[in-house]
Amino acid sequence: MEPMVNVADLESIPPGKARTVEVSGRRFALANVDGRVFAIADRCSHRAGPLGEGYLEGCVLHCPLHGWGFDVRTGACDVRPDRPVASYRVEIREGQVWLDPREPESEAA
Ligand code: FES
Repeated sequence: MEPMVNVADLESIPPGKARTVEVSGRRFALANVDGRVFAIADRCSHRAGPLGEGYLEGCVLHCPLHGWGFDVRTGACDVRPDRPVASYRVEIREGQVWLDPREPESEAA
């Protein structure tokens, strides 16, 4: 079965911006870094802040609540390396953003 889900128009996420999308009740934060779109979990590993509403600085998406930063390419956390968030595969097809919402294999474990 095709795991990829069409989640957004590429135009709705300009370079340097992030936004939240929902797939079957789960939330994901999408971020556009110089034209490349990445996806991480929308739930901050600190106190569950909505990462998609945060601000992007280079590849780092900062939580709107207390500012923890997450590398949108990997989910790595800048202040707490032991508290990454999941990252998800994204593809752009004909101006549409497609996301693989399956939980990634845990590489940190
Ligand atoms: S909830 Fe994200 S930094 Fe506190």
